[in-house]
This record gives sequence, C-alpha cells and structure tokens, in this order.
Amino acid sequence: MAADKLIRTRSITILKNGHPEIRRLKREAHAPSIHGHKVWNSSFVVMDYLRRKRPPKGSHFMDIGCGWGILGIYAAKKLGLRVTGVDADADVLPYLALHAELNGVEVTPLQRRFEKMTKRDFDGVHTLVGADVCFWDELTPVLFKMIRRARKAGVQRIIIADPGRAPFYALAEQCADAFGAEIVECRTAHPKPAEADLLVIKGDKA
Ligand SMILES: C[S@@+](CC[C@H](N)C(=O)[O-])C[C@H]1O[C@@H](n2cnc3c(N)ncnc32)[C@H](O)[C@@H]1O
Repeated sequence: MAADKLIRTRSITILKNGHPEIRRLKREAHAPSIHGHKVWNSSFVVMDYLRRKRPPKGSHFMDIGCGWGILGIYAAKKLGLRVTGVDADADVLPYLALHAELNGVEVTPLQRRFEKMTKRDFDGVHTLVGADVCFWDELTPVLFKMIRRARKAGVQRIIIADPGRAPFYALAEQCADAFGAEIVECRTAHPKPAEADLLVIKGDKA
C-alpha cells in the first residue's frame, strides 16, 4: 500500500485523500456534500477520551454525523464495541465501508438525518458520539432535540466534540441547563496537534 498516503494511529489505518482507493471512490462520484470529505481532528480527541473512560465492552456505540466513520472503527477495533455509523449523506458511506474493511471491523451504516432519528433508532444504544457535527446555527436546535430523544430512549452517555464553534457553545449551554451537561477540555498531539471541547451529557438513568 502507498505508505505516504496512509495515517496509522492508535492501531487504526486511515487513507489520505490522495490514496488510490479514495481517488477511486471520488471517480465513482461519491462526493460528500455536508463536510464529510475527510477525517476531522476532534475524532482523535474523542478516541483518547474514550480510552480513558471506556464504555462497557460489547455495548452499542453510535457515531452520529460519522463521515468516514473512523471514530466508530476505533471503537470497534480497540474498545470492542458494537458500532453504528449514522450520517445524512449517502456519499460518505462508501468511505466508511472501505475503512471498516481495511481495519477488519464491522460497522453498521445508517443513512439518517439527526432530525429524523427516533427513539427506536436509539434503542439499546449505550454511548452516542458526534465529532464536529455542530457547525451551523441551525444544527443547535436539531441536535438539542435529538439529544433529548436519545436520553429518553435510555442512551447513557452522549459526547459531542468540537474545536470551538459558536453553534456548539450554544448547544453546550442549552444542555448544561436542561441536563446538567459538562464541558471537558481535551487535546491530542497525534496524528497532529488538535484541541477540542467535549460536551459530555449523562443519560436519564446514568
Ligand atoms: C464535519 S463532518 C464530521 C465527520 C466525522 N464526524 C469526523 O469527525 O470526521 C460532519 C458530518 O455530519 C454530517 N451531517 C451534517 N448534517 C447532518 C444532519 N442533519 N444529519 C446527519 N448527519 C449530518 C455530514 O454529512 C458530515 O459527514
């Protein structure tokens, strides 16, 4: 494999945008249209947080706005979780499938908008995570309502990570008031230096 076109970190392998397999998907007209065209840095910060605060082995982990799905792939491979990757954009799912196969794990794909996620979709989910998903003002109320539905469905921990955009802080304030959520400031050095704030929301029954 073209080694300079790969990132290896935390025992997972990620293909860079110039890798022939990624270029093949692009040629096949899979062009993600809602910013799901690469792996965003907050994912790596969340991985390190999850390594310290592990969900129970075998529990159901849902990565919302998963893009290429790397966070879920880490959760499956390194933490032994059952993973669903959710995204509105059907064109990210081939990138998720490619990386899941490359890393030898199974991740169940679900094409669904945050707005349309029902209590039933969250049934049995223990941990719900979204990295870099609150980037437009209109996503704040959408994610707040989705988080409320997820908590009602019994999700025990919700983590939304962001490098510091205004819509994310608006969401954090609403979740602090409504659910006693907390912000945890985190950083990582790999694969490149990155900082992110993690909005950590406990479930109704946690
Ligand atoms: C900035 S990317 C982050 C991708 C991935 N979480 C990462 O860290 O690499 C945002 C992702 O959220 C998805 N997205 C945006 N709005 C959405 C919505 N309303 N419902 C579901 N997914 C959405 C996009 O398609 C995109 O894949």
